[in-house]
Amino acid sequence: MLTELEGAGLLEGRDVLTLGDLAPADVRRVLDLAKEQKAAWAAGDRSRPLEGRAAALVFMKPSMRTRVSFEVACGRLGLQPVVLGAADAFSRGETIEDTTRVLERYVDVIVIRTFEQAQVEAIAEIASVPVINALTDDYHPCQVLADLLTIEEHVGRLPGLKLAYVGDGNNMANTLLMGCPLAGVNLAVATPAGYEPLPEAVRNGERIAASAGTALTLSHDPAEAARGADVVVTDTWTSMGQEAEHDERLEAFDGFQVTPELMSLASPGALFMHCMPAHRGEEVSPSVIDGERSVIIDEAENRLHAQKALLSLVLGIGSVKG
Ligand code: CP
Ligand code: NVA
Repeated sequence: MLTELEGAGLLEGRDVLTLGDLAPADVRRVLDLAKEQKAAWAAGDRSRPLEGRAAALVFMKPSMRTRVSFEVACGRLGLQPVVLGAADAFSRGETIEDTTRVLERYVDVIVIRTFEQAQVEAIAEIASVPVINALTDDYHPCQVLADLLTIEEHVGRLPGLKLAYVGDGNNMANTLLMGCPLAGVNLAVATPAGYEPLPEAVRNGERIAASAGTALTLSHDPAEAARGADVVVTDTWTSMGQEAEHDERLEAFDGFQVTPELMSLASPGALFMHCMPAHRGEEVSPSVIDGERSVIIDEAENRLHAQKALLSLVLGIGSVKG
């Protein structure tokens, strides 16, 4: 077992581009530090362990939760956030290399939301500072860290639980495929045919699940996935960049809405989660998302705590005070 001091540098300097970049102990460490920092903040601790450092927060796609939670996380850590939009960086005909090599002279960490996972990987390859994926078309690792934190807070544990993901095989499904087994959570994914998760995410998820000893099933059957689940998760059927497919997707996803009937197949008291933005009447019934089992607002709040912990760890801070 690692002591606090030995464990402090485990994530220092590392990129988080997918949850496949993390080991189970790394995920545990993010969740533990997030809980410590959350409790310390609530108790009035205003330590700013990253005072004097800076973070670039690059958004090539829209965002509300991710942008605000990262900016506030930076502020609470004393880390200066510099927000850049699509008109500012990784655009204007400049090469990725030029932008990255200049950016890293100003900042200590680059957080980026963009379309292609390959762009984030190219930036990370060049950058000498850590790069954190704040959502791509393929993955949303920060969201799933916050989701795991939320489940643990509500249920009291993670290992051995069953999570059902019902809906589009998108960036959330791809990320849960790795995040669930890393946390010891069994996962059942149900998508319509033709909307399955990425083969690469499935391969990685199966590899992690085999070593963690967790179950991982993929099907086209929402009822089968939901049966006995402790947590039921869904996401929009039309992700950013797919707006032109909205009507076609509404038809393709018929039968995949998370309804009270579907929730009744899950464990009594099962949680409902959604990363938001949500579309009532599409991927979820209003009575489910606005019902007593829904923990979506806690989930959104935990973006702040999970990301604050992740920023701390990649910048070498392993405890509340640094
Ligand atoms: N869940 C999430 O990432 O929300 P935003 O798109 O608003 O950042
Ligand atoms: N799958 C959604 C998640 C939004 C946070 C999207 O990519 O638009």
